[in-house]
Amino acid sequence: MGNDKSRGVRRQDLWSLGLEQWPQVAWGLLEQAATGTDHPFRCPALATSGADGPQVRTVILRTASAATRRLLFYTDARSPKVRELRQLTQMAWMFYDPGQRFQLRAWGAASLHQDDELAETCWETCSPANLLNYRGRTVPGTALEATLSSLPPGALEDRLGRGNFLVVACQVARMDALLLGPEFHRRLDMRWHEPSWVSTWVNP
Ligand SMILES: Cc1cc2nc3c(=O)[nH]c(=O)nc-3n(C[C@H](O)[C@H](O)[C@H](O)COP(=O)(O)O)c2cc1C
Repeated sequence: MGNDKSRGVRRQDLWSLGLEQWPQVAWGLLEQAATGTDHPFRCPALATSGADGPQVRTVILRTASAATRRLLFYTDARSPKVRELRQLTQMAWMFYDPGQRFQLRAWGAASLHQDDELAETCWETCSPANLLNYRGRTVPGTALEATLSSLPPGALEDRLGRGNFLVVACQVARMDALLLGPEFHRRLDMRWHEPSWVSTWVNP
C-alpha cells in the first residue's frame, strides 16, 4: 500500500465512502490516472462490439474530465476498433487496481475526432514516441513478413501520420465500482441522470 497515498485515496478511504461521494472520487482517480503514468487505471481494457462479437484491448487513458464526463484515448484511425465504433458507438472501459482490489467499469458512447480542434490539440501534445504509432505504412493488424517496424523512411517528418491519428472521446453515462475485501465486498452502481450522478449500492 506504499504508494496508495500518492494516488490521493487510501484503501480505507474507499471503504468509508458514502454513496454521494463515490462519483466524485471515482472521477478523481480517473483524472489522476490520466495525468500520471504509474496509476493502474492508466492502462484500462477497452471493449467494443465487432462483427465477430465482443472485442477488448488495452489502451492508454489520455484524458479524464469529471466536468464533461469524458474519457479520451488516442488511436490509429485505420484500426479495427475505429471501424467497430463507427458501427456501434457504445463502448465499455474496465479499470483495475490490484493493490486496492478495486475494479471500476464505465460505459458510454464514443465520438470520433480526426479533423477537428480536439484532434489537433491532442496531436500537438503527443510525445515523439507516441507519434510513431500513427506513422506505420500499413493498417494495424496487417500481416508482416518479419517483426520489423513498418515505418516508412523519413518517418520523423513533423506531420507524417497526422491523417491516421484519431481521438476517441467517450461520454460516460454509467459506472460500476467493486471493492473486494477479505470478508465482504462492496459494489455500487452510478448512473448519470441530468444534472447529477445517482448512486445505488448493489449486491456484489
Ligand atoms: C500497455 C498498452 C497500451 C496500449 N495503448 C494503446 C492506445 O492508447 N491506443 C491504441 O490504439 N492501442 C493501444 N495499445 C494496443 C491495443 O491494445 C491493440 O493491440 C491495438 O490498438 C489494436 O487493437 P484493435 O485491433 O482492436 O483495433 C496498447 C497496448 C498495450 C499493451
